[in-house]
Amino acid sequence: MTTQATSSAGQGESTGAETLTVTDNRTGQVYELPIADGTIRATDLRQIRVDDDDFGLMTYDPAFMNTASCRSAVTFLDGERGVLEYRGYPIEQLAEKSTFLEVAYLLVYGDLPTQAQLDAWVGQIADHSGVDENFRRLLEGFRYDAHPMGMLQSAVGALSTYYPEAKDVGDPDVRMEQVIRLIGTVPTLGAWAFRHNQGWPLVYPDASLDYPSNVINMFFNKGGAFEIDPRLARAMDVLLILHADHEQNCSTSAVRSVGSSQADPYSAVAAGVSALYGPLHGGANEAVLRMLKRIKDPKDIPAFMEGVKSGQERLMGFGHRVYKNYDPRARIIKKACDDVFAVTGVNPLLSIAVELEKIALEDEYFVKRKLYPNVDFYSGLIYEALNIPVEMFTVMFAIGRTPGWVAQWLEMIQDKEQKISRPRQVYVGARQRDYTEIGARSS
Ligand code: CMC
Repeated sequence: MTTQATSSAGQGESTGAETLTVTDNRTGQVYELPIADGTIRATDLRQIRVDDDDFGLMTYDPAFMNTASCRSAVTFLDGERGVLEYRGYPIEQLAEKSTFLEVAYLLVYGDLPTQAQLDAWVGQIADHSGVDENFRRLLEGFRYDAHPMGMLQSAVGALSTYYPEAKDVGDPDVRMEQVIRLIGTVPTLGAWAFRHNQGWPLVYPDASLDYPSNVINMFFNKGGAFEIDPRLARAMDVLLILHADHEQNCSTSAVRSVGSSQADPYSAVAAGVSALYGPLHGGANEAVLRMLKRIKDPKDIPAFMEGVKSGQERLMGFGHRVYKNYDPRARIIKKACDDVFAVTGVNPLLSIAVELEKIALEDEYFVKRKLYPNVDFYSGLIYEALNIPVEMFTVMFAIGRTPGWVAQWLEMIQDKEQKISRPRQVYVGARQRDYTEIGARSS
């Protein structure tokens, strides 16, 4: 409970108590606010008022720069030290030893599965990877050059119309059924969006293949003998693991926010897909490839960097709201590039990317702002080596991020402290104006 004190704690004096003493200089009142987990409750500020008519003090935090919106046990991220853990397991170990579906289980259930649990889980995901034939017609309705993220977002939202029971978000069994279906069907819908763009016939999921091989098969199998190099399937799996969750990022916040209205999880995840589409979020990997192709030649890098430093453009794939150190995922992806290029041959854009990174890591502009490569800087090069077109990069990100979205949605739905998401505002517009008839208005 918040207490309201009447005397100051005194400057520099430490009582050791987990509280914050605030003096309102407008009134001279002193307040003592509890601190828990390094936070104060924003609603505790409401008692700080100048008079009875005052609504109470709020925090102003556009873009949530310093506001925790939930308590979460899914992903730990220390941006200053470059640490990323899913349910406490370091991303480096998971990328080396685990599989994407095992990581998905970990995110959803909180612990690594036994072999029997993993086998059952893999079977359930495979059983839920098909979609109604009507989705074929839904996707055929799009223009041949429709962006696949637009198609994916519509198709994921449309799933809610096929599984109306999904809106019963209070039922744990119903919830889990949709979670499994989302992890199973997002790759199918993503692959079908891709094949629609290519004008190729659709390929159905194949339960005899492991998860990444099934994804590759649905994307690229054009009939006849179709061999999947296990090294490429593994590289795809690692990429998906690296994208599986990243705590309260823009798309996950969108999923939580929409889900907080108790909309079904398909509608919530469709919102996540929409948020991910943007070039400052998942769309950055697409933007990186376009940037590298535009630079074309390492000799043009200095001129490009001058444009970045003068604010004319951004070095895409660099910088992060949370990481002020090397993104650990970028380090793993850079290594995975070598494995993939050993099979496919080196992507000539790699030399431009490596040179850009080298210059940026030594340049005062980037050093001062703590701008390092993020997950998107090298991932596009791997996707391109796998023959995935640029427009599809963000779809691959969405396939990887789906377990994170659903794990965060499950956590939000079961969190007793969560309510419908509803920020406050600072109103700065006009007040109480009299309506002017249209003929009496000046231009
Ligand atoms: N190139 C050049 N300057 C940059 C960059 C960049 N990529 N990123 C940040 N800055 C500068 C920015 O201009 C600002 O400088 P100043 O202080 O002089 O105004 C300073 O660094 C702080 O930037 P900010 O825009 O206030 O930082 P933010 O936390 O709002 O933005 C970001 C984070 C990721 C949107 C931004 O770094 C960015 O636009 N990066 C490029 C896009 C990108 O790679 N996005 C993928 C993010 S990782 C995948 C994901 O999680 O979705």
